[in-house]
This record gives sequence, structure tokens and C-alpha cells, in this order.
Amino acid sequence: MNVLGIETSCDETAAAVVVEGRDVLSSVVSSQLDIHKDYGGIVPELAARAQLTAILPIVRQALAEASIGFREIDAFAVTYGPGLAGSLLVGVNVAKTLAYVRDLPLVPVNHLEAHLYANWLAGAAGEVDFPMVVLLVSGGHSELILMEGHGRYRHLGRTLDDAAGEAFDKAARLLGLGYPGGPLIQQAAEDGDVARFTLPRAWLEGSWDFSFSGLKTALLREVEPWRLPQEPVEMDPQFPFTPHRPPTFQDGFPVADLAAAFQEAVVDVLATKTIAVARETGARHIAVAGGVAANAALRERVSMTVESIAVGERPKVTVPDFTFCTDNAAMVAGAGYFLLRRGEQAGWELDVSSRAALTRREMS
Ligand code: KG4
Ligand code: ZN
Repeated sequence: MNVLGIETSCDETAAAVVVEGRDVLSSVVSSQLDIHKDYGGIVPELAARAQLTAILPIVRQALAEASIGFREIDAFAVTYGPGLAGSLLVGVNVAKTLAYVRDLPLVPVNHLEAHLYANWLAGAAGEVDFPMVVLLVSGGHSELILMEGHGRYRHLGRTLDDAAGEAFDKAARLLGLGYPGGPLIQQAAEDGDVARFTLPRAWLEGSWDFSFSGLKTALLREVEPWRLPQEPVEMDPQFPFTPHRPPTFQDGFPVADLAAAFQEAVVDVLATKTIAVARETGARHIAVAGGVAANAALRERVSMTVESIAVGERPKVTVPDFTFCTDNAAMVAGAGYFLLRRGEQAGWELDVSSRAALTRREMS
């Protein structure tokens, strides 16, 4: 079965063709980085407008790169939430139209479930052994989920404040590194001395939740003495958005060491809690997913920490291919295939849900 996936939940416009939830024939992602970088974050109105102009050429490109005709598609899968309402509307309406024209199934995909199913793409997970613990870490979410089977989820923990990716993004802004923060912090940390600064970890003993706001404040405290005063920003009355001006620092600002200490603090908590919860639940498989799963230190740490578990009881660890960690439509098409197999399909009344949770099936 060939599924065409569409993803427009935030600032990426993506379309992909995936066969049987695993084989990726094409995956096209158009990023709006250039549009938002001057603001230090995503401006929702600009994101929605850019989705509108990008979507049809991206769908066409996905079909062309898959060397497949529109008539060879068997179903359309689209992210309906969570995300930015204006951006989501674009994808949902295009998918609805395509499915209507071809009289084919329209599959509504939750963005979090899509991230999770990125682990099936390109055979990354191989044979999956349930129950599986999923660490889902992106710009909007940090969740520990127990997946007991396809579509059977139990929530174990979530962030009480910032998501892990959001923490990376905010830290990068404090360090004057730019946006998106994750890859820039990872890059800066490569030259850093991880032991020079010790930043706090919120272990939240007795729960599987996360918290990153204290870490962000601690980083701010280290950065503050190095910051140079900023000139006031002059607003253009014709343009309603405040331009972002990166901070400037005194010579010798230890940006690499601070980036390394920050990354270490986040990775330490994520990896330690994931392995601990896998132990407690007797999980046979650990999967990491979401944009932060692209972080090399996190990937390495989860694989390393799992070695502390005795060989016979050690869960298998999988992480999607780098390109399928951050937002893409292959993961939407992949999840769409598994949803359709379970009979999940939307009617033409499908609407976006900017705060959709992974609650449809057994999530507490
Ligand atoms: O999954 P994603 O593309 O979008 C959301 O659903 O939010 O995740 C984006 C997030 C951003 O916060 C970005 O900084 C983070 O993933 N990210 C990373 C890395 N690459 C992307 N964080 C840490 N290390 C990376 N290499
Ligand atoms: Zn995402």
C-alpha cells in the first residue's frame, strides 16, 4: 500500500510517499528557517502563509521523486494536530481535497504518533518487541510513553514546563547561537569542556516527569555576567513583529563550555530516566523519537546506559535515521499505514486540533 503523507504542523512543509509503513520512496521537506530566523522563533502567521505557497509544489515533488503517479497512491495521511492551527489547516485541507478527488481513505495522524512511528521507517526498529518505552522529545513535547502494542499507549511522564527541544532553543538564544537551538548547541558543545560548569538536573524523584526551567535559569545566571548592554530596538510602525537581536558578549565568553554543560545536563536526565523506566516496566524495546532524538550525545548516551542492564534482560534500543527525527512527512505516511490497518479513517468533517494529545486509545 502506497501512502502519501502530508505534514504542516509547524514551520516545515513536507510530503512523502511510503510503502507499507516502512519503505520510504520519497520524503521532501521544505523548511521556513530563513523566514523566522530574524525573530528568534516561529511567527505563526508567517508560518501559515508560507505553508500555503509551498504545499502543492512539495506534494508534486514527493510524487516525482517517488517516481509514482497520483493514481498509484492508495491513501492520504495528514497531521491534524498538535501544532499551529493556521499551518495545520493548510495540510488538512489539501489532504482532504486529494482524498476526495480520488475517493480514497483520509487518515488523520497525531503528530506525536507520527514521530513515534518514525522508528519503523527504513527498517530502523527491525522486529519490534512490545512493550516498548518511547522517549518522545521534540520542540513541543517531552514524554515518556509505554507502547504496549500498535495504538496502545500509556503515559508514564511528561515535562512540567519546557519541552526538551524548547529548552535547547531557549538555551541557544541565551548563548547567542541562533535558531533552531538543538543542532547549534550540539555543534558548539563539540569544542567544549563538559566539566567546567556543572548545571543542575531536576530528577523529580518518584515520578517519570521532566522539568527544564530550573536548568534554563541556572544557565542564564552563568551567562548574565558576560553580556554586553544592548541598544534599544527601534520598531518599524509598518511592521508589527519585533525583530530579534542576538545578545553580544565580552571577549572570552565560554560559549562552548556552557553549551557542553547544558547539553550534558539535558542528556543525563533524559537517558537516565528512560533506562530506569524501561527497567521498572520490564520493557523489551526502547525507542527515542522527535527532533531531539537527532542529538548525537543523547543517542550515544541511551545506547551506553542500557549496557548497565544484564544482557538477558537488556532492551533493544532504536532511534530513527537522522532525517526522520525532525519534522517530516514520511513519519506521517508511516503512522498513517498502521492506523489504516486498524481501521482508523476520517470523514470530510476532519478538523485541525492544535492541542491534540495522544489520547485516542488508552492514554491516561
Ligand atoms: O520534532 P521537531 O522537528 O518539531 C517539533 O515537533 O517540535 O523538533 C524540533 C526540535 C527543536 O527544538 C530543535 O532544537 C530540536 O528539535 N533539535 C535538536 C537537534 N536537532 C533538532 N535538539 C538537540 N540536538 C539536535 N541535534
Ligand atoms: Zn515534530
